[in-house]
Amino acid sequence: MAQTVFLTGASTGIGRATAILFRDRGWNVAATMRNPAAHPDLASGGVKRIALDVTDPAAIAAACRQAMDAFGGVDVLVNNAGYGAFGPLEAASDEQIERQFTTNVTGLVRVIREFLPHFRERGSGVIVNISSVGGRVVFPLYSLYHATKWAVEGVSESLQFELGRFGIRVKVVEPGSIATDFAGRSLDRLQKDGLTVYDDYIGQLLAGWAKVRQPSPPELVAEVIYQAATDGSAQLRYAAGEDAKAILAMRPGLSDADYVVMLKQRFGID
Ligand SMILES: NC(=O)c1ccc[n+]([C@@H]2O[C@H](COP(=O)([O-])OP(=O)(O)OC[C@H]3O[C@@H](n4cnc5c(N)ncnc54)[C@H](OP(=O)(O)O)[C@@H]3O)[C@@H](O)[C@H]2O)c1
Repeated sequence: MAQTVFLTGASTGIGRATAILFRDRGWNVAATMRNPAAHPDLASGGVKRIALDVTDPAAIAAACRQAMDAFGGVDVLVNNAGYGAFGPLEAASDEQIERQFTTNVTGLVRVIREFLPHFRERGSGVIVNISSVGGRVVFPLYSLYHATKWAVEGVSESLQFELGRFGIRVKVVEPGSIATDFAGRSLDRLQKDGLTVYDDYIGQLLAGWAKVRQPSPPELVAEVIYQAATDGSAQLRYAAGEDAKAILAMRPGLSDADYVVMLKQRFGID
């Protein structure tokens, strides 16, 4: 019998590539997204589109039920929905701060909680949380985004203890730079009327970023997610992309101060 994966944020980018990869390998896919009507192309094979905004607790329970009804159970949960707040913290509104955490952290935690009774009763299940290389290292002007991804890392690493006892595995996938809408549509620019003192710095960083950025395709991350979901190992973390592997390998050898110097040089910033 085909296995089933439940995916959040399956409309575009990494989520979409993951839905397609699992589908093509014979899985049932509960592809959740905020606006299923906008993505009719994802309705083929064993894919069922289900409405889910992860900031809506009632929608989480309903989406979980729909997936269970459609496929009889779920084997793998992939928490992928997320976006990045970018800019100086001083410019962030309360709404921007709360939405960043509600989407990337609270939503993810609530989705996990919804599935736990099911996984526990089955004595199996894999939870794959999409973090980021930015869940282990930091870059300038992403303080809120890093806070959420470091939270995802902490939640995941702690959860593996209490869930391992029930045969439930927790995985963290850490993509580097990936060619998706993330740097466009999914970037929430933090801006405040009259606050211009950071503009030069933002400009420097964006110029430096454009020079060093070598994005990998979302299909590469989908492969890593598939590996994490199916390898049966106790491995917690999976880097995705050569840039992610390189910086994660380099970071432990640098002091905090040396990391700052290295990044400033790399991006050509003050
Ligand atoms: N691209 C990168 O460089 C990169 C690097 C490291 C980590 N990541 C992580 O990878 C994940 C996917 O991002 P991506 O690169 O594939 O970007 P993307 O193509 O912009 O996809 C973001 C996805 O998240 C969904 N989403 C946002 N808010 C949501 C909400 N409240 N409820 C449900 N879905 C929501 C979007 O849905 P809508 O279509 O409805 O907006 C979309 O499906 C994110 O967690 C991101 O942090 C990305």
